[in-house]
Amino acid sequence: MNKIAVVYWSGTGNTEAMAQAVLQGIQESGADGQLYTSSEFAPEMLSDFGTIAFGCPAMGDEVLEETEFEPLFEACKPELSGKKVALFGSYGWGDGAWMRSWEDACKEASVNLVCDSVICNETPDEEGIANCKALGASLAE
Ligand SMILES: Cc1cc2nc3c(=O)[nH]c(=O)nc-3n(C[C@H](O)[C@H](O)[C@H](O)COP(=O)(O)O)c2cc1C
Repeated sequence: MNKIAVVYWSGTGNTEAMAQAVLQGIQESGADGQLYTSSEFAPEMLSDFGTIAFGCPAMGDEVLEETEFEPLFEACKPELSGKKVALFGSYGWGDGAWMRSWEDACKEASVNLVCDSVICNETPDEEGIANCKALGASLAE
């Protein structure tokens, strides 16, 4: 079975709303999805999952949240080979540069990004939620 983990960090709930929609898309497609905050997840748990959707907003100056999420992601990165990975997150005043950098870092590390990342400006609107659900559904295929 394709077990899917959705692992996210969210300060004010926007990326959390996206994560919940990703999970909904997975579950509505009949796959087994599990939702974790970055503090609930650990690299040792990756062996249970073939697919992981990581979510983190733009923080600092166009970077990932540095205290909790980035250390977790860096620790997971070497263990991601052979797995399907997708990225999502919310941003504010920028133009999505944090996501482009995150995607580039993944490509450099040969992380297998299997679909287009989903980004939403602040609170996800209807279209953003639909895009998150579609991301979840595509991971469930
Ligand atoms: C400390 C801090 C740094 C931020 N840095 C950026 C940034 O560099 N670029 C950007 O577009 N938005 C930035 N934002 C805005 C957040 O990405 C945006 O509010 C997002 O919706 C927060 O998602 P969350 O509710 O999941 O925490 C920043 C917000 C905070 C609090």
